[in-house]
Amino acid sequence: MTQTGIQWTLCLKQFVQITEIARQLGIPAYVHFPCAASVLAIYIHLPVFHTTTDTSFKDMECTSLDFPGVPPIPVADVPYTLQDRDTEIYQTRIEKFTQIAEADGILVNSFESLEERAVRALKDGVCLPGRKMPPVYCIGPLVKKENGKEIEERHICLTWLDSHPKGSVIFLCFGSVVALLIDQIKQIAIGLERSSQRFLWVLRSTNDENKMFEPQPDSDLHFVLPDGFLDRTKNRGMVINSWAPQVDVLNHASIGGFVSHCGWNSTLEAIVAGVPIICWPIFAEQGINKVLLTEEIKVGVVMKGCEEEFVRPEEVEEKVRWLMASEGRRVLREHMLAVKEKAREAMAEDGPSAKAFTEFLRDLRLKLNGQDERSSDSFLS
Ligand SMILES: *[C@@H]1O[C@H](CO)[C@@H](O)[C@H](O)[C@H]1NC(C)=O
Repeated sequence: MTQTGIQWTLCLKQFVQITEIARQLGIPAYVHFPCAASVLAIYIHLPVFHTTTDTSFKDMECTSLDFPGVPPIPVADVPYTLQDRDTEIYQTRIEKFTQIAEADGILVNSFESLEERAVRALKDGVCLPGRKMPPVYCIGPLVKKENGKEIEERHICLTWLDSHPKGSVIFLCFGSVVALLIDQIKQIAIGLERSSQRFLWVLRSTNDENKMFEPQPDSDLHFVLPDGFLDRTKNRGMVINSWAPQVDVLNHASIGGFVSHCGWNSTLEAIVAGVPIICWPIFAEQGINKVLLTEEIKVGVVMKGCEEEFVRPEEVEEKVRWLMASEGRRVLREHMLAVKEKAREAMAEDGPSAKAFTEFLRDLRLKLNGQDERSSDSFLS
């Protein structure tokens, strides 16, 4: 955690320098924001919020916060790096958010019909009272088409999925950054086994709390999982080490649900594929994404206990069964299919996201023309 914190601070400092250098050189500076527009709305507002209180989030007595354009955010879901205002990372991040608001424009990997309230708050300037807000262009959802390695053999997990009924398999994957503690993995396994549901599980494990962010060598599944688990579930479950072609998996007809850490890429991939989510946020702005998915977009439910960093087998069993086999899941599914359709419309040729990108190019051209005819010609012709 600490080491990652240091790396982030360095990387953020470089960002701050880059936008400053661009300004000094008179070059238009645009920000590509790879998270939700709702997260942008919060981040843009935080430097303002900062001046209204002396208390760190971690010391606040209220349980949730009201920011413009987003549902109430539980204080505990504010990213870890923003919890303590006396840390260097907090200060650097606040500085970065101030800089984002001074960019010539912000490109966001999202679409307006997904986050109407946040996008409106951003465009109306309520996130940044008394100051001019740069234009915001929603150009998403941009997701990878597939794993990028075209001529390669189909991954074994896709062949395995072929043999299962439509919408019957739950997919569990916690992103490409963190590993879960072996203790937690064993609890997930117990819950999955008791749920009697089909599953495909991408597993990254560690037995050291301080190494959750370090790349792990492939683990020995037999050591990590409970005794006999693989054997007992072999007809309805598959566990793979480290990596799976997630976009292909989510778009496979057999997948009916997704247990996800709610990273923004994974979230958009699930939305484009129309797969409802059980939210299990782990770090960064994933907690905010969880609030968004469950309270605003209503295509997900929370895996209880993840806030306390430990989920019990009973909860895994119950939530997985609920999403895969209950009557109650229908509403969630219908919402997700409606959102999937909106995502398709957003990305249509001449749809709103393409229009936003064209608008960005037009604005950029205007900025460059305002400075120097020739350089803009060579840049954009
Ligand atoms: C999200 O996806 C983009 C585009 O595929 C990629 O460049 C980026 O590294 C991904 N982010 C994370 C955190 O994996």
